[in-house]
Amino acid sequence: MIALRLNDLRQHSDILRLRSGGSLTVRFVEPRDAQGLQGYFRSLSVRSRYNRFLGAMSELPRTQLDHFIHVGEDDRFSVVATMLVDGIETVVGEARYAFEPDTASFEFGLSIDDRWQGQGIGEGLLKNLECRAAAFGAKRLFGDTLRSNAAMIGLARKSGFAFLPSPGDWKLVRFEKHVDVAPQEIACASWRLAAEQITHQAAA
Ligand SMILES: CC(C)(COP(=O)(O)OP(=O)(O)OC[C@H]1O[C@@H](n2cnc3c(N)ncnc32)[C@H](O)[C@@H]1OP(=O)(O)O)[C@@H](O)C(=O)NCCC(=O)NCCS
Repeated sequence: MIALRLNDLRQHSDILRLRSGGSLTVRFVEPRDAQGLQGYFRSLSVRSRYNRFLGAMSELPRTQLDHFIHVGEDDRFSVVATMLVDGIETVVGEARYAFEPDTASFEFGLSIDDRWQGQGIGEGLLKNLECRAAAFGAKRLFGDTLRSNAAMIGLARKSGFAFLPSPGDWKLVRFEKHVDVAPQEIACASWRLAAEQITHQAAA
């Protein structure tokens, strides 16, 4: 388990190779992303926003946007997935996750820009989240989605998640997976940093 060094969020950035051959950067949201992130949510289709937030929403309310850009507050974290489009860093996806130390659980939600869906980006981002969960020392990874959300259910199934009823809401289904990632299998910067910290502590 690691204590995130929030003064150097950029250490936790990852570059993923996509099946299309392109590369995707996954990095923590920074305060400078506020406008871009809001623009990203506004540009999602009504259906994608509904699926992401489990209800109708045209944009992120100010308070929620504030939470998104203050990474690490209340053990909650936001990442953006970006690509270079015509030389400009463009947000093509995002995820928000929370780590609950008492239960070693990692809860998350994610979305991919409609124009970029169906190209393996969601799958890549989810794999990266699994690695980030492992770096926290999480034992369980889970999320809730609408029972009607075939894309998220398909992605979760393909990624090896099991399904169970979501506590308290029959419209939702919970997808859950045991975290047993070995560092050499799925590398991410957070995992490398965690491993370094453990080695350092052991040597001290
Ligand atoms: C769910 C979501 C994140 C998937 O992202 P994506 O980048 O389109 O998914 P990928 O291209 O990586 O697909 C990976 C796998 O997921 C499954 N999948 C993706 N879209 C699917 C769809 N429309 N129907 C069924 N399965 C689907 C497939 O198994 C796919 O594998 P394949 O490409 O070999 O067929 C995306 O559709 C999204 O952002 N939706 C709106 C927001 C949302 O629903 N968030 C979930 C809230 S927790």
